[in-house]
Amino acid sequence: MITALNAAELREAIAPGKSVGLVPTMGALHAGHVSLLSRARAENDVVVMSLFVNPTQFNDPDDFDKYPRDLDRDRRTAEEAGVDIVFAPEAQTMYPTGFDTVVTVRALSSVLEGASRPGHFAGVCTVVAKLLNAVAPTRAYFGQKDYQQLQVINRMTRDLNMPVEIVSCPIVREADGLAMSSRNVRLSEDDRKAAPVLSKALAYVQDIADTGVHDAYQLRAWLAQTIEVEALAKLDYAVIVDPCDLKEVDTIDHGAVALVAAAFGSVRLIDNRILRPASGPEVRR
Ligand code: PAF
Repeated sequence: MITALNAAELREAIAPGKSVGLVPTMGALHAGHVSLLSRARAENDVVVMSLFVNPTQFNDPDDFDKYPRDLDRDRRTAEEAGVDIVFAPEAQTMYPTGFDTVVTVRALSSVLEGASRPGHFAGVCTVVAKLLNAVAPTRAYFGQKDYQQLQVINRMTRDLNMPVEIVSCPIVREADGLAMSSRNVRLSEDDRKAAPVLSKALAYVQDIADTGVHDAYQLRAWLAQTIEVEALAKLDYAVIVDPCDLKEVDTIDHGAVALVAAAFGSVRLIDNRILRPASGPEVRR
């Protein structure tokens, strides 16, 4: 496994004419990342994993400081998962003195995570655009756990004619349903026990939908109430939206996604579920 520290070293390491899969990460790798790496390994000649804790996407400096970092462990995990090249630039390499460009996807970035974390998606889009330009991958892999991020990146790559296929990979969960996240290690013991309420509430809403309730307002109320019953969860949002434009819907009949965010102590967690109408495919579009 090769480590590249800048775009020139990357270009040297990637043989021309090969298909390249990029898995962008901020490190603190867990089984969710490994599932993206395995998929990239199966579908490409060369697998590049970027490892960069991007300061510009943290609206809260404390969150950036506390973000878990373990480079040696991440390198071992990457090697075991069959990564060929780890791209691990320094902040000064990504954002040299005088750096003055921001990539923004306006509407999709202004709601939900974007409303709660101002500037977050501009930071994500700018760094992902830089990574895509530096690696020039055939495919780039993102987890469905960050559903809004996935839609924002889809929009950006389409709008800017970026020649890459964005591959969405399913959420990987702990045995009790908690969606895997690098932030989970920061949960206190009590908060860790409480946090699966998010996935339970999402599963519950699908169960209610399966009984024939397709009214999104009713389902949203169930979703919020189920989370609010958990005293340790401080709910930020619980919504049922269109899978593409993320606007709230009246009914789940044409496809919908339930998205939730809540804080457990100082740790903010998100989760989501693509809702199935009773007898239709997951998303009908
Ligand atoms: O999902 C993440 O880990 C980050 O937002 C990403 C895509 C690596 C950009 O820094």
